[in-house]
Amino acid sequence: MPIHVQVHADKQAASGAVAARIRDLILLRQHEGRPAVLGLATGSTPLPLYAELIRLHRDTGLSFRNVITFNLDEYEGLSGDRPESYRHFMEVNLFRHLDLRPGATHVPDGTATDQDQACRAYEDAIRQAGGLDLQVLGIGRTGHIGFNEPPSARESRTRRVHLDEVTRRDNAGFFRQPEDVPHGALTMGVATIMDARQVELLAFGSAKAEIIRRTLHETPHAGCPATWLQAHPRSEEHTSELQSRQYLVCRLLLEKKT
Ligand code: PGA
Repeated sequence: MPIHVQVHADKQAASGAVAARIRDLILLRQHEGRPAVLGLATGSTPLPLYAELIRLHRDTGLSFRNVITFNLDEYEGLSGDRPESYRHFMEVNLFRHLDLRPGATHVPDGTATDQDQACRAYEDAIRQAGGLDLQVLGIGRTGHIGFNEPPSARESRTRRVHLDEVTRRDNAGFFRQPEDVPHGALTMGVATIMDARQVELLAFGSAKAEIIRRTLHETPHAGCPATWLQAHPRSEEHTSELQSRQYLVCRLLLEKKT
């Protein structure tokens, strides 16, 4: 299915549109009496989205007690209490501000002694929850989604990956010194992401313009993993009300030249 692109006036407008999708999903699932399963991302891009979800909870009473979350990835070797870990990022920027049930949030365990087993268990947990209803994505300048660095196969599942040096440099700001950025990570695979019923990719700023151009126009290939999103399955294969609205949106905000 072609990627549906929406360009918004600013980060708030793009993030507000995704937050509204998430709110509608939560309310629909609540009505159906089953949980809404969200795939979440870290990095600077989703911060305005998380601020808006917190506002919806605080100001409109939107409850997250019916929500289960799975994050895309975690750095290898960082336990969840380390300030640079993605578990910590999620706690500070979203989870602790909502009424999520204990145990409802999942982030890959970067300190698991048996990583292969931990990755298989992560896939199983997503399946047992009923699959991802909506996956939020950022995009890296390497074309990574999650930490699926090039090359990442269409069939890849949750696994250990080696981080690209471009990504390590881009993420160094979150660490005390650039050398502290881990070399490895655990990430959902491309196939895990592609199984999500809806995907919302957010990309803000001119630094993302070239990789978005490639994502939209290159023939899907492992060298630019985000291009696999062009093959996200078509809605007609599904029947339920929510699934018939399966979609993938790339919300773009490119900085204006001053
Ligand atoms: P960013 O990272 O939101 O900090 O730009 C996105 C990503 O690497 O996926």
